[in-house]
Amino acid sequence: MIRFLFNNEIREETDLSPNLTVLRYLREKAGRCGTKEGCGSGDCGACTLY
Ligand code: FES
Repeated sequence: MIRFLFNNEIREETDLSPNLTVLRYLREKAGRCGTKEGCGSGDCGACTLY
């Protein structure tokens, strides 16, 4: 189980694949399809979470 704050709302997810990226979560599970991938290789920092 993972619990996190998403747009000031607590979300709990219990059935996510360990291979699911945050980008895919945002696009496919949270409906935020405007979210785009940056470099995709760990260089630009666009996918850094706070
Ligand atoms: S997309 Fe560039 S570091 Fe993640």
